[in-house]
Amino acid sequence: MSNQLDKVKDLIEQRTKARLGGGEKAIEKQHSLGKRTARERIEMLVDESSFEELDMFVEHRCTNFGMEKKGFLGDGVVTGYGTIEGRLVYIFAQDFTVIGGSLSETMALKICKVMDLSMKMGAPIIGLNDSGGARIQEGINALAGYAEIFQRNILASGVVPQISGIFGPCAGGAVYSPALTDFTIMAKGMSYMFLTGPKVVKTVTGEDVTQEQLGGASVHASRSGVTHFAVDTEDEGISLIRQLLSFLPQNNLEEAPMIKCDDPIDRIDDSLNEIIPDSPNKPYDMYEVIGTIIDSGEFLEVHSHYAPNIIVGFGRMNGSSVGIVANQPKCLAGVLDINASRKAARFVRFCDAFNIPILTLVDVPGFLPGTGQEYGGVIVHGAKLLYAYGEATVPKVTVTLRKSYGGAHIVMSCKQLRGDMNYAWPTAEIAVMGGAGAVEVLYAKEARTSEDPAAFLKEKEAEYNKAFANPFNAAKYGYIDDIIEPRNTRFRVIRALQQLSTKKLTNPAKKHDNLPL
Ligand code: HXC
Repeated sequence: MSNQLDKVKDLIEQRTKARLGGGEKAIEKQHSLGKRTARERIEMLVDESSFEELDMFVEHRCTNFGMEKKGFLGDGVVTGYGTIEGRLVYIFAQDFTVIGGSLSETMALKICKVMDLSMKMGAPIIGLNDSGGARIQEGINALAGYAEIFQRNILASGVVPQISGIFGPCAGGAVYSPALTDFTIMAKGMSYMFLTGPKVVKTVTGEDVTQEQLGGASVHASRSGVTHFAVDTEDEGISLIRQLLSFLPQNNLEEAPMIKCDDPIDRIDDSLNEIIPDSPNKPYDMYEVIGTIIDSGEFLEVHSHYAPNIIVGFGRMNGSSVGIVANQPKCLAGVLDINASRKAARFVRFCDAFNIPILTLVDVPGFLPGTGQEYGGVIVHGAKLLYAYGEATVPKVTVTLRKSYGGAHIVMSCKQLRGDMNYAWPTAEIAVMGGAGAVEVLYAKEARTSEDPAAFLKEKEAEYNKAFANPFNAAKYGYIDDIIEPRNTRFRVIRALQQLSTKKLTNPAKKHDNLPL
């Protein structure tokens, strides 16, 4: 055999070795836990045979605690690029079979390299996390590595979409990389995110708590809101990443891809003309409205278990991505509270950063009153949503279905927050507050001195409702651009979005804003 052939053979052997990560035993252990390896995950994620691995021969440089005797080609992370539906993406997937996927200085360098490439090329970066955290033997070098990654997460924010799949442990400061990215996906029973694990919690606070209770997928999807998606399996999580990317542009200078639309744009749905109950206190399901007006009813909901009184997610209208924000009357009457405001604000800002038009469907009775909300800072959190809408320069179409009262009316993409097209259904009630509350304030004295205060207030409420519980008053001032038949909503919104597709609007130059955090 020639010298060159020998070298090629050696290369192939080295590659085979690298592809085994931490070795067959460790791979078996990973599989026995129902987990895929890093390479298997990447294979599932990208288009067939599209993955090009980088830095397969990188090894750690640590010599502490006997580490000089432990070497693994690739050092615990698989990095590279591939395509998803033909579009370029950069990927890093931590390999738990190598020293528990713990983060070393060199692992960080590998991750930073693909993050830098993703920024240079303007393509999304996807991180698949499965790691015991900072490699303890490396001390400060591992911490420095994390900081390098976080810095890149920050600079990439709003430039390229960043997605984190958590398919194993993600503990300590390591959680801050996913937290800085745009979307986090966790798998139930497999993913854990916490700053301090159950043992430290027990020592410090005395609380007995399991990993699942402290930082499992369900708890982060519903209570903390740390994760945007909780899925049943990692396979589901990986397909979700592909689906999510289909709604997003490659970067902040591009538009999301257009998908051929087989759903007629002028499809009329008579059910919408009857969906609003006669009683103002009766709910209906906003999902039905969303499903009816978007293309083929295909809605990718974000944060579905967190603050369900507001719905956010992606759909398409005539094949173009649109971010939908909608109050949900079925849950807490669709009221805005701290969590709903934070959830929607983050979503609106994401859409604005990535040129995705926003459709807002309004049925909001106001902000949730009470000490719980006030002490929790609802003023500042509500201001986040107000701010997000006000600063957004993407096309904004608002449809008011029913209630739109007070501050919540303003917050939910009203005309003066640069709503481009503000429509209302004939059932809309746009006013400072609801009738019952309003007459209590306006006629308190008269009611006290009247013969039958209840009947008096009822009469005044009817008067108030006649004057304000309709959209015509707002339309009279041009605050509502048109009052539309509910069944035509799909067509009217698509028309509006088509009209707005060339919208150009910029905010004043500044170093950065000072969003009320
Ligand atoms: C070095 C680590 C490691 C780490 C795991 N390993 N985590 N090595 N540094 N952080 C090694 C284990 O020693 C073991 O090596 C192999 O990886 C597999 O780990 P196991 O413990 O056998 O796996 P499992 O039972 O599944 O438990 C997984 C685990 C546990 C829950 C993640 O390993 C664990 O608690 N690790 C430590 C977590 C931690 O406290 N990390 C530091 C957080 S602080 P062998 O050779 O036996 O196979 C932090 C600061 C970051 O990350 C700050 C950033 C700003």
